[in-house]
Amino acid sequence: MSSIEQNLGGRTALVTGATSGIGRAAAIQLARAGAQVIVHGRDADRGGQVVAEIARAGGKARFVAADLADLAEIRRLADDAGQVDVLVNNAGFSWFGPTADLDAATYESLFDSNVRAPYFLVAALGPRMAANGGGSIVNVASMVATIGLAGAAAYSGTKATLTAMTRAWAAEFSPHGVRVNAVAPGPVHTAADPARIEAFGATTPLGRAAQADEIAEVITFLASPAAAYVTGATIAADGGRTAI
Ligand SMILES: NC(=O)c1ccc[n+]([C@@H]2O[C@H](COP(=O)([O-])OP(=O)(O)OC[C@H]3O[C@@H](n4cnc5c(N)ncnc54)[C@H](OP(=O)(O)O)[C@@H]3O)[C@@H](O)[C@H]2O)c1
Repeated sequence: MSSIEQNLGGRTALVTGATSGIGRAAAIQLARAGAQVIVHGRDADRGGQVVAEIARAGGKARFVAADLADLAEIRRLADDAGQVDVLVNNAGFSWFGPTADLDAATYESLFDSNVRAPYFLVAALGPRMAANGGGSIVNVASMVATIGLAGAAAYSGTKATLTAMTRAWAAEFSPHGVRVNAVAPGPVHTAADPARIEAFGATTPLGRAAQADEIAEVITFLASPAAAYVTGATIAADGGRTAI
């Protein structure tokens, strides 16, 4: 645990896309901070492994499968999750390439998974958090929402939309005790092509890509009472790339 103030005992956290990468690291850290974690994803095998890893460390977790590209599955996930105190909208995917090469179906999938899914999860769970007196929503955006990267127009658009929604949701829900923030990672070693991630990493002031745990630390901080006065913020965790 990063800080004794990051105490999430008695809280329930839903982490989307927790079967892999940043979401998996966040689920493990939130459980370590005391939260009961709902590990979401599509791959039940990898989901079960994350749940087992949390249990081995003495934490509590369960897996719920849902394809967030499907609105009915988003509703089912929200119903299954019930009352949550922390929602981490992490699930998503990227597509890089010339603008003219992106087909309409992939464009729609990008916006369905990266924008529509968090929107309707917040629509379902945000009011419940507000009625319950508070909560914390953390959206996983990207540094490409801020910098212009050739080949990333559609993906950047999804993440810029998510950061705009973060500010609007802070305005809507924070008067009712629900903090809404985003983390904007730079390149992170996860499922993506390692050579591309390394090359991006070399362009940052820190000269390297991040490990998933380094992004999860920021998510856990934003989810925790240690961030009690932080809302509407997008925190860069990008090795300084957007500072230069
Ligand atoms: N890695 C980076 O360099 C980087 C940088 C900036 C931002 N990000 C953002 O960070 C987030 C996590 O990325 P990552 O690199 O950790 O990715 P990852 O290792 O590929 O994991 C993605 C996770 O999202 C889930 N997911 C994706 N689409 C889904 C859908 N339609 N329905 C349900 N689950 C879905 C996957 O579930 P299953 O595998 O179980 O299907 C998986 O658990 C994404 O939003 C990404 O855009 C990543």
